[in-house]
Amino acid sequence: MEGRLSSRADLILDSCIMRLITVARRPGMISFATGLPDNSLFDTEGLRRAADEVLSGDDVKGALQYGESEGLLSLRKRIADRCRKEAGINATADRVLMTNGSQECFDLLGKMFLDPGDAMAVENPGYLGALQAYSVYGPRMIGVDLSDSGPDIRQLESALKEDPKLFYSIPNHQNPSGMSYSKSARCEVAEILSETDTVLVEDDAYGELGYRGRAGRAISSMTDNSVMTGSFSKIISPGMRIGWMVVPDWLLPKATQFLEAFCLQAGSFTQRVMDRFLAKNDMDAYLRPIRAEYLRKKNLFSDLMEDMLPQSFSWNDPDGGMFFWLRTPEGTDAMRLVDAAMDRKVVLMPGSPFHVRGGENTVRLNFATASDEDMKEGMCRLGKAASDVF
Ligand SMILES: Cc1ncc(COP(=O)(O)O)c(C=O)c1O
Repeated sequence: MEGRLSSRADLILDSCIMRLITVARRPGMISFATGLPDNSLFDTEGLRRAADEVLSGDDVKGALQYGESEGLLSLRKRIADRCRKEAGINATADRVLMTNGSQECFDLLGKMFLDPGDAMAVENPGYLGALQAYSVYGPRMIGVDLSDSGPDIRQLESALKEDPKLFYSIPNHQNPSGMSYSKSARCEVAEILSETDTVLVEDDAYGELGYRGRAGRAISSMTDNSVMTGSFSKIISPGMRIGWMVVPDWLLPKATQFLEAFCLQAGSFTQRVMDRFLAKNDMDAYLRPIRAEYLRKKNLFSDLMEDMLPQSFSWNDPDGGMFFWLRTPEGTDAMRLVDAAMDRKVVLMPGSPFHVRGGENTVRLNFATASDEDMKEGMCRLGKAASDVF
């Protein structure tokens, strides 16, 4: 006999992300599908040294014991300093709450803000993992289309008339589209939101992965009513599961309580390892070769697309992050390409699940994960798949 699930179990959006990771691991598969960073860029040696130091240091008991719900203070200070210096936001350590990856933040925010039927504005397309996390709380998602330089401001204004509790946005090197907000779009969004009580959720997962540095000041530096979420996943290690959110003072007590109820705290050990690792590395020097390598891979991927894909396809030129946003001709169904690629053992992520409307002719391509050899072989196969169906 099966147990009885809550009504939320019917609400949760299907996200194929983790399923695709499993498919991509099958022998012979080449994946352009997921958001995994390049394995070869993990500083395994540096992290091993940091872990050794934690395990042989004076505070080993602290590392292996429960800790405070808010997270490790020294790490929170480092994050607050970086947020102030790089993103321009007025962060202090006491406003930084550590989480097990930034994905947790979306669930917590959903839990804190959303009742079934509440309006919430989201980018269209938007990051599927976050949309899935919010979906559990039954919001009515209002899509705001993205252009090359930011959200459609008219659509955002009209969404705000429906009194959304949250606006979820990724202003830097967005997943899936690779797009970043222009300076004026950031200012406009901050200005429009400041006339409402809609809370901006500014997801900064790719903020440090601009090839020429940060794409722009955080919108959270221009408005008080915002929560900024961040993560070490894309630049240091997703497996360590270290994320955070910077919350406004008025939200701090509730957010801490919810965090405690949810998971007690983020992992003590991994936070200490990360803290040691950061103590040994100047962040800008650490990021330089990583940014350079992703830029090199992006250029290689772009050249291969030029050579192998039909002229009727188009794509953007991202200046950071991990994704190209591919469009098959208007009116066509990109699932045909996704299926044909799968037949040739190339895994792609269709673009339509990232949308609340439209997007049938889009595909997200990750250029960060594959090795050069796999990239070349995978693009060769993709070119053939494209000529099978287009
Ligand atoms: C835009 C965006 N935000 C958040 C996340 C969640 O990352 P994590 O939970 O590893 O911090 C991801 C992961 O792919 C992402 O692409």
